[in-house]
Amino acid sequence: MSAARTKGNRAHFQMDLPPRPALLDFHGVSMTNYFIDNWKNIQEFEARPDDVVIASYPKAGNTWVSYILDLLYFSQTSPGRQYSVPLFERVPFLEIHMPGYPSGVDELNRFASSPRIIKTHLPVQFLPPSFWKQNTKIIYVARNPKDTAVSYFHFDRMNQAQPEPGDWNSYFQRFMEGKMVFGSWYEHVKGWWEEKKARSNILYLFYEDLIEDFDRELSRLCSFLGQSPSAELKKQITEKVLFDNMKHNKLVNASSDEYLDFTISPFIRKGKVGDWRNMFSAKQDEEFNEHYKSKMQTTDLHFRTAL
Ligand code: A3P
Repeated sequence: MSAARTKGNRAHFQMDLPPRPALLDFHGVSMTNYFIDNWKNIQEFEARPDDVVIASYPKAGNTWVSYILDLLYFSQTSPGRQYSVPLFERVPFLEIHMPGYPSGVDELNRFASSPRIIKTHLPVQFLPPSFWKQNTKIIYVARNPKDTAVSYFHFDRMNQAQPEPGDWNSYFQRFMEGKMVFGSWYEHVKGWWEEKKARSNILYLFYEDLIEDFDRELSRLCSFLGQSPSAELKKQITEKVLFDNMKHNKLVNASSDEYLDFTISPFIRKGKVGDWRNMFSAKQDEEFNEHYKSKMQTTDLHFRTAL
């Protein structure tokens, strides 16, 4: 998940991988020890006024937006960075803490470049208070639950740092019950949505919108961040973050993360809206739609599962 967590020889390192972690209940949210062991330091994390946070439920497109922001802020001032440092090191993962490796908090505290671009999957109620005090700009990325569930399933299959996913049918049930790392998708997206209504420092982006009209969403992003990139820089960003370009870019496709088994699935996998149709049976689709209706009836937040 970061270069600090990688070692040279994959086959050799794999023998040393710890067993997959168990899912734990943490203040009502399913988590693993990798994200709660450093809790005190996470909660006491000191935000800087110019930090930018990219928050999302897992598999909503956090890596995509991370790369956009990294290019926006650094491709002109530190052009070498994108050719030498893995994205997962350029954009540290706040809450990650794996034994024997620097934690996300330590990596961020050491960061000299500004702004710090910070990745998190924390549900809104767990965000360290300092971000609210500093009025830090936060971009929340949301993706429809069907594609999220399928993407998460493939990710959990290949990621030895996640609990055992089991088969798709059982995974599908657990996704609906919220028994996933970082908890319920419903609570996550709704929690951040309500917070966004009360605060002007949160921009709520949808994965489906990025796919549908990247230029429009890039402009929204820049205007929220108070950035006015040249037409040339916008063009370069747009080109670099194309799905195929990211998929083949070794510094952004997580290929150096030793916990990920690429023989099972790629990390940058399909990048589509509607891939869920390849996994959901007709019966599951019906069941999910009913469940979705009951969980989302009290919110004005809407998702698109097709374009
Ligand atoms: P799929 O598994 O459906 O392909 P995250 O970065 O939050 O873990 O999200 C991962 C999902 O975003 C994966 O979805 C991945 O392929 C997709 N993704 C990453 N880069 C993308 C890009 N440039 N365009 C479209 N989708 C992208």
